[in-house]
Amino acid sequence: MDDERTADEGRTTVDGGVGEAGEGLPEGFLVRHPVPADHRRLQGALADWWGGLGGDAGALQRQLLVPRLFLQHFAGTSFLVERPDHTLHAFLIGFLSQTDRRTAYIHFVGVCPDGKRAGVGSFLYRLFFAAARAVGRTRIRCITSPNNRDSIAYHTRMGFRLEPGDRTDEHGVPVHRDYDGPGLDRVSFVRDLPGGPGAITPVAAP
Ligand SMILES: CC(C)(COP(=O)(O)OP(=O)(O)OC[C@H]1O[C@@H](n2cnc3c(N)ncnc32)[C@H](O)[C@@H]1OP(=O)(O)O)[C@@H](O)C(=O)NCCC(=O)NCCS
Repeated sequence: MDDERTADEGRTTVDGGVGEAGEGLPEGFLVRHPVPADHRRLQGALADWWGGLGGDAGALQRQLLVPRLFLQHFAGTSFLVERPDHTLHAFLIGFLSQTDRRTAYIHFVGVCPDGKRAGVGSFLYRLFFAAARAVGRTRIRCITSPNNRDSIAYHTRMGFRLEPGDRTDEHGVPVHRDYDGPGLDRVSFVRDLPGGPGAITPVAAP
């Protein structure tokens, strides 16, 4: 059963030298698809890596937004980065839209506090872009909270457009009011993928 697979059994490398992913990870770091056994430490990362954004309620909200099902049913389009000692360094949870066949969606991305601004987030995005493009997706979407200024800066830098909202905040950012429910405003991003194959080949670990 899927849930009984360990991280070791699920360990898969993705050749960072293939396609668009290119270099981007420190030596000895591993990128692989997640397995359900990774759920507990991802939950820890969701609590600890956002700099206390939203306090305890924010941490719980993030944790509830990444239930185990993502590691059971969306693992093929999700990635995590481990350090040489197999501790968690970064992750990306994404999927292919079932409704809009042009679109792939990045649900969550996180890089550990000590690992930020070293290119790992953009490495994971390039990996996801290539995986999405390899199966014909031409558009990437994601959302973030208006108070996550780092995320807005990062996504803008990564070539995403901010979609028009129904109000503009004090920083000039378009916001969708109550997007995910009362009081849960969101900023919406979209990015087109340039054409070309750029496929990434997953390689089973020895
Ligand atoms: C947002 C996050 C994933 C970015 O990952 P990262 O590894 O630090 O980003 P990178 O080093 O790949 O940066 C890519 C580009 O974005 C820019 N960037 C990243 N964070 C930035 C910030 N806070 N402010 C301004 N620019 C930023 C980088 O300078 C870089 O631009 P460059 O190519 O001109 O140098 C990471 O900061 C993080 O995990 N934050 C906490 C979790 C979070 O908010 N996730 C997003 C919402 S789900």
